[in-house]
Amino acid sequence: MKLVFATNNTHKLEEVRAMLLDTIEIVSLKEIGCYEEIPETANTMEGNALLKVQYIQKHYEYACFADDSGLEVEALNHAPGVYSARYSGIPHDSEANINKLLQEMEGKTNRKGRFRSVIALLLDGKEYLFEGIVKGTITTEKRGKNGFDYDPLFIPEGYEQTFAELGDEVKNKISHRARAVKQLTAFLSANNI
Ligand code: IMP
Repeated sequence: MKLVFATNNTHKLEEVRAMLLDTIEIVSLKEIGCYEEIPETANTMEGNALLKVQYIQKHYEYACFADDSGLEVEALNHAPGVYSARYSGIPHDSEANINKLLQEMEGKTNRKGRFRSVIALLLDGKEYLFEGIVKGTITTEKRGKNGFDYDPLFIPEGYEQTFAELGDEVKNKISHRARAVKQLTAFLSANNI
């Protein structure tokens, strides 16, 4: 079946395309002619993921899922969290986000953090939520060239390299999004979709 993935992040689109079953054809926002900025005004990841699918349902009437994700750092009271993409302001600036996080974490001994992804699915008028978490630690400097945004600063539990050093193949097996997508896929196949 065709499912719209409501994201403008091509990196995420490719990550999730590589993870989903062959029976699901992922359609991008561009492919349905959606070029507008979908509002992300909620103050939780759950709220934002739901806003995105509700918007697509209302304006385009497609079955749709959306994710909202972010990095939650213990020593920063779970910031940047839902504000991860605009941590250093708007427009989105990866380098500035990374530098701000490094600065905020200067001198902190508790380096624990986690990436969290929430997927909302809107199918036949019903809303469903799925969550994926990967725990890890925040480095004191940038390491690695792969991935995007905070990947050079995040070492997943059980590894010694950052997501940006580990590369997409490893990241796609253990990431927060992979875990949330796994739940989405399990739900879809349990319901013969
Ligand atoms: P979203 O696109 O509204 O879900 O914003 C998510 C933001 O959280 C991204 O722009 C990144 O700053 C951060 N983020 C989420 N997942 C990842 C990841 O896998 N690697 C690095 N940063 C991520």
